[in-house]
This record gives sequence, C-alpha cells and structure tokens, in this order.
Amino acid sequence: MALEIPNQPRVLVVGAGAREHAIAWKLAQSPLAPRLYAAPGNPGLAQVAECVPLGADDVGGLVSFCRAQGIQLVVVGPEQPLSVGLVDALTEAGVRAFGPTKAAAQLETSKAFAKALMEEAGVPTAAHRTFTDAEAAKAYIRRQGAPIVVKADGLAAGKGVTVAGTVEEACRAVDGMMQAGRFGEAGRRVVIESFLVGREASLMFFIDESAVVPMLPARDHKRIGEGDTGPNTGGMGAYAPLPDADSQALAGEVERRIVRPTLAALRERGSVYRGVLYVGLMLTDDGPQVVEFNVRLGDPEAEVVLPLLASDLLEIAWAVSEGRLAEVKVAWRPDHAVCVVLAAAGYPDSPRKGDVISFAPKLGASVSVPGPGLAQGGPEGCIVFHAGTAWEAEGLKTAGGRVLTVTGVGQTLSEARDTAYGGTDGITFAGKYLRRDIAHGL
Ligand code: AMP
Ligand code: GLY
Repeated sequence: MALEIPNQPRVLVVGAGAREHAIAWKLAQSPLAPRLYAAPGNPGLAQVAECVPLGADDVGGLVSFCRAQGIQLVVVGPEQPLSVGLVDALTEAGVRAFGPTKAAAQLETSKAFAKALMEEAGVPTAAHRTFTDAEAAKAYIRRQGAPIVVKADGLAAGKGVTVAGTVEEACRAVDGMMQAGRFGEAGRRVVIESFLVGREASLMFFIDESAVVPMLPARDHKRIGEGDTGPNTGGMGAYAPLPDADSQALAGEVERRIVRPTLAALRERGSVYRGVLYVGLMLTDDGPQVVEFNVRLGDPEAEVVLPLLASDLLEIAWAVSEGRLAEVKVAWRPDHAVCVVLAAAGYPDSPRKGDVISFAPKLGASVSVPGPGLAQGGPEGCIVFHAGTAWEAEGLKTAGGRVLTVTGVGQTLSEARDTAYGGTDGITFAGKYLRRDIAHGL
C-alpha cells in the first residue's frame, strides 16, 4: 500500500529554537498544507504554527495535548525531550513521532555509551578512556600528554568539551567537571580522548529501518570569537554544502564505515533507529573520524540544510515515523546556504535579556505578518529564524543567548554569505554580537 498522508494533517513541532523554527518553516511549505502547532514555540514559530504553552520536556503534558487535539505527527527538535523518552511515550499512546527512542538517544546523551558502541562496531573515532575518578583521569592525562580532549559524559548544551593545549588545562577541566560540579550530573563521568587533526564536518542522515538517506554536508562555527577563538557556544553560524568535500563521496563513505555499523550495533542492543542521526566528523588524513553523534538535527546546521531540501519534509518525517523512508524521494537544491547567528550581549556565559529588537523595513515581514513562509520576507533568499526572542508590550525583545539566525541562500557560497550578512545588517538590538567571518576564506 502506498504511503498515505491525509490532507491538512495536524503536526506538532517540539522545541523553541531557530532549528525548530526552520523545521516548522519547511513543514509549512508542504503541499499537504499541515496545521502546525509548536510547543512551546517562539515568536518566529508563531508565524507558521499555533504555539502551545507546554515545555519541550513535559512528556505527560505533550502526550495529553496530542491525544486531545488529534495530533497526527510529532516532530521533535531538541535532544532533551528525546533523552527523557518523549518518543517512547508518544508511540505508546499511538501518536506518530519523528525522533529516536530514549534507548537509541544514548548515542548523544552518553558519550561513554557512544564511544563503547563505536569501539565494538569498529567505527573510526578518537582513542578514548572513560573515568569516574578524577585522580585516575588526571593520571591518564599526564601519561598521554597534550593536546588532549576532556568531555563531560552527559548533555551539556554543546559546552561540555575542553580541547586542552596543555596537561594543566586538561586537569583543570577534569577538576571543574568532577569536583566543582560544572555541568552537574553530566560531568560526574568524563571521557578523555586523543586529539584529532583535520577539518570538521557535520553530516546528518534521515534514518529508519528501511533506509539511510544523507543530507548535504555542513560545517558550523562553534567558537564565540572570530578566527575560531574563545569558548565553545551552541554555534555561531554554518554553511552547506562544503566547498572542500565531495558531498556524495563523503556521504557514501560515512554511511558505509560509520552509520551502518553503528545502526547494526544498536540493533544488537534491541534498538531500531528512527529520526535524524547527526554525525560530527573530523576529516583527517586517515579518513573521516567521529567526533560526536547527535540524535537530532544540528543547530545551526538545520538552518542551512533545511532551506536546501527540495523535497517535502512532512512526507519524509511521516515516512520515517512509520519505518517507510525507502518509499520517499529525497532531493536537494543545487544551491548554497550560509547562516549567521545574532547573539545577545554576554553570550555564552551570561547572556543579557530584554533588549528591544528592531528590523529594517526590508525585513519587517519576518516578524510582524502571520502566515506560512513569511519568515522569508526581506531580501531575496534571506530567512530570519527566531531562537531567543519574546513578545512583550514594547515589542520583540531578546530572551536568550542565541537570539536570531539569519540564513542566506544563493547560487554560490559567496552569494549566500552576502545575502545572510545583508540580512544581519537590517536587525538591531543593544549588545548584538555576531561573527563576521562565517563561511569566509573558503
Ligand atoms: P563535541 O561536543 O564532542 O562535538 O565537541 C565540541 C568540539 O570540540 C568539536 O566540534 C571539536 O571542535 C572539538 N573536539 C571534540 N573532540 C575532539 C577531538 N577528539 N579532537 C579534536 N577536537 C575535538
Ligand atoms: N551544531 C552542533 C549541534 O547541534 O550540536
């Protein structure tokens, strides 16, 4: 029987960031004209979806909402709800969901789990040891020498990794995680890894038991400062595809050497994977090596990859939720995309909230007019995705570290970059911070 999706299905997007805005923006373009909801959403999501005041990890609340409203598909954006079993609970309640189970999500939620599984499956990744004792971890670091990498085992919002240039710095990171309790429970166990040399790449796949389908490779800029300096952030910008990699060849190699063996090892542990698998790679002289797995779309990678998806994301997500991805065609636009994140003053340590955001008239439609696709108002090919914004009496204000993501799409990387930066010029708020070097020097 052919894949049947009803017209105007009720679809809930879970999350509140620019990634979720990009997901909903793309779903809204489906010819099936979905009725979109977002939990909890944000002012950007409100342009394309009805926002419901439920937390992304309020599993009980979300399941009740889906039942009461007859939601036919849930697309989960962030890792947190996946880590607490939202997909398991929805499936049990008979609601279709796009995203992995809690057990499969351990690929992201426990670095120790991911490393052990990769080792068992023969997946290329940095040599590592896992520790629950700080003194033993530091003794190992002293034996190994620097550079060396220290990672909190659990979820730490992309900030739990220290790439240490010296033994002292690595030992301080261990003390911070295991003794001072930085990152709380997530840092009680640490993974110490050898330092990999190469260029990074983010390659995401749509996955279910019927198919493994690569997206376009992307690259994000994690450090706060220009020239890749300063502390790691949730991501300051991204671009796709990569000018220095053959998309198809890279995807083929990563699928064969990394994704297929990983899925096989998961299956042996009783897990079928459905959703997006994000493979964070180091492209080394010895080929691609895994730096990390994430079990959802990357942020900000989603904001460059989804605008390049030519196919219907609703159809893909629906098919994956039923294990029927093999029946769907996934095609990509032959274009390029660049996104630039606008961050609040004080990000990443202590972002300030409450600064009024104003948009140049050319971008005005991106915030004020409700309706599908209107996030696209503004210069040709420029899309403004909301992350940390809030509507208040005075208008739109900053409400988080990463405030907005501005994406430019163009026929070349430089055209896409110029469009994105042109968009950022039209947005002002006190303390606005952005990196000026996203996708430069390529
Ligand atoms: P992760 O959260 O595991 O992606 O790590 C954050 C960042 O730290 C990565 O994007 C890399 O830039 C860097 N990193 C992590 N592991 C390694 C490694 N083994 N060698 C070199 N750099 C690494
Ligand atoms: N951009 C990296 C992440 O989403 O974790």
